[in-house]
Amino acid sequence: MALLSLENVSKAYAGIPALRGVDLAIAPGEIHALMGENGAGKSTLIKILAGVVAPDTATIRIDDVPVTIDNPAAAHRHGLRFIHQELSVVPALSVAENIMMGRPYPRRLGALVDWRALNAMARKALETLGITHIDPRKKLAHLSIGDRMLVKISSAFLAGETPARLYVMDEPTAALTREESERLFAVLREIKAAGNSVLYVSHRIDEVMSLCHRATVLRDGRPIDSGELANITHDDLVALMIGRKVTEAYPPAQAAPTKDPVLQRPDLTVRKGEIIGIAGLAGAGQTELLRQIFGNPQKAWKAGIAYVPKERRSEGLVTSRPIYQNITLPHLQAQSLGGTWLTPRRERQFATRLGEDVRLRAAGPSQLVSELSGGNQQKVVFAKALGGVPRLLLLDEPTRGVDVGAKFDIYAIIRDMTAKGMAVLLASSDLPELLGMADRIAIMRDGRIATIVDAKGLTEEALLNLCYGRSAVAA
Ligand SMILES: Nc1ncnc2c1ncn2[C@@H]1O[C@H](COP(=O)(O)OP(=O)(O)OP(=O)(O)O)[C@@H](O)[C@H]1O
Ligand SMILES: [Mg+2]
Repeated sequence: MALLSLENVSKAYAGIPALRGVDLAIAPGEIHALMGENGAGKSTLIKILAGVVAPDTATIRIDDVPVTIDNPAAAHRHGLRFIHQELSVVPALSVAENIMMGRPYPRRLGALVDWRALNAMARKALETLGITHIDPRKKLAHLSIGDRMLVKISSAFLAGETPARLYVMDEPTAALTREESERLFAVLREIKAAGNSVLYVSHRIDEVMSLCHRATVLRDGRPIDSGELANITHDDLVALMIGRKVTEAYPPAQAAPTKDPVLQRPDLTVRKGEIIGIAGLAGAGQTELLRQIFGNPQKAWKAGIAYVPKERRSEGLVTSRPIYQNITLPHLQAQSLGGTWLTPRRERQFATRLGEDVRLRAAGPSQLVSELSGGNQQKVVFAKALGGVPRLLLLDEPTRGVDVGAKFDIYAIIRDMTAKGMAVLLASSDLPELLGMADRIAIMRDGRIATIVDAKGLTEEALLNLCYGRSAVAA
């Protein structure tokens, strides 16, 4: 008997189908992966299950009994818990208030909020994940994006009036470090051992293959296949998702970097055509370094410095605006759009071309960014950065949430542009990405560049050791 089954789930937005007749079943104690490229319909399916989006058609059964889920409270009552892709947190409230959001607060004398009890409940929820470094009284605004994610995840583990049966997680590890991800996986294994289930979305294929039992693959809103992960290879799974063979190989550099410096600082010189990786443990100062170099946005864009920030929604995008305006925003001088007059038509053409380069999946250049899937929003940030043909490109975790197919296309674009002289600073917690793309890697510790090493011949292990401040040779 399935714990949860979905039958014939369909949904169209303004006539454009996002889901077409999707079926999915999850057994008790199963971790089920939901896979597909950016825009395939994963988050839409999850929002339907959460009672956030109304489907056009859907039959939902829990323990084989048909149920109606038309609001989040109903989903909660049925034992469903959600960690959505886009964080719905309130930065002005405390960690504890965010964890308790939508739940009744503990009260004293039936009226006054019992803050002590509230904070204790929040602390307990955090401890489920082994988190002790986050103070429940702290305002969320003061937390890093990774810590905010941990707060959000913890709230799913808070005990409710009805027992939890199924945890639905939409890219929970996108903003987490390795250690934090490992802690989450340990909790997932406990959930499984207790006979409860997980529906899991991630673009990290290896993570899915080691964590999940079965997968359902969506392409273009259609259910393509579903089965046990033990019976499929990594490459075949990717081919199912993307619908074509993808070579997951980092494109080689086309030429050696030149000697001409693009950026010179006491601690770092970046040369034309060079890619410098920035590595370090979480919070070692990577984001601050890039922000410092970027400085004043208006001046920076003018000087040919482009920036793909880590926090795409708050820093990289105006989601209430159409795609093309987001892409052309920093390039609103006609010359940089390659013509004489800046007309909306030219703006849209410019945006369409860049969108194609990064495999943006959208109804058209005038679609609002808020209507795009998470990964496609990230591609808009990318297209915007590449638009002015920058001299120096600053990238902070640029491929987070981007599907494997588009990811390797983006690497190829970066290579083409460096061959033409663009220099790149690439901050990433994805070690293969750093080793595959960078010429040299700057290791940051305690807010400073501790050392710069050649990427050639470096192993993941050696790089990790350097991040921890251990010697690269000692294993
Ligand atoms: N509010 C909306 N209005 C119009 N179209 C929408 C809306 N929300 C989603 N869509 C469209 O539905 C499709 C599926 O989006 P969805 O967010 O489910 O993709 P996804 O599989 O979660 O992708 P990602 O991996 O990038 O998160 C996309 O084409 C998207 O543009
Ligand atoms: Mg999504």
